[in-house]
Amino acid sequence: MKKRVAILISGGGSNMEALLQDMELDHPAAPVLVLANTPDAGGLAKAEKRGIATACVDHRPFKGDRSAFEAALGAELEKAAPDIICLAGFMRILTPEFIARWQGKMLNIHPSILPLFRGLHTHQRALEAGMAVHGCTVHEVTGELDGGPILGQAVIPVMAGDTAEDLAARLLPMEHRLYPAVLRRFTVGEREKVTLFP
Ligand code: GRF
Repeated sequence: MKKRVAILISGGGSNMEALLQDMELDHPAAPVLVLANTPDAGGLAKAEKRGIATACVDHRPFKGDRSAFEAALGAELEKAAPDIICLAGFMRILTPEFIARWQGKMLNIHPSILPLFRGLHTHQRALEAGMAVHGCTVHEVTGELDGGPILGQAVIPVMAGDTAEDLAARLLPMEHRLYPAVLRRFTVGEREKVTLFP
């Protein structure tokens, strides 16, 4: 029986698409839901084109009532009954209570070499710090923001004259290699770290 994967998105969903594409191959998991927190998420149409069930719980009507939003988000997830949840460009902070419900089953991809540069604007911060390398991390989600056990990392060089946009563009293809590689292993209980270089 394949493991059931739900993917949470907020935007274009390029990482979601990389995961869906890989699960179309011979894979121990299958996607059961793509769930967005905004109807504007371009990834919803990409998922629908691949015949994947989608749902949207728009966070805006909840006007900052985080627990009400998470109750609605959780209801969609409970319906899909995933074994694994992949946050893929999902831009809402989740409460420890919500995370506890899915502890050990939730992954995230973060565009930095954690524990460096937790939070936002990672590319700009890496440039400002004078990093010679940059990268992305797939980790288990815990109550600590961008702080869960690392499952894989991919590294890219920082070139002279790079802008934050240059780094983001150079990193994204590595994200699309790393996340599927980690999900395959996570699905079958393998926890040996994945390390990717260009
Ligand atoms: C990516 O840089 C990812 O690392 C971050 O959100 C960005 C966009 O992701 N979490 P996607 O194209 O929506 O998957």
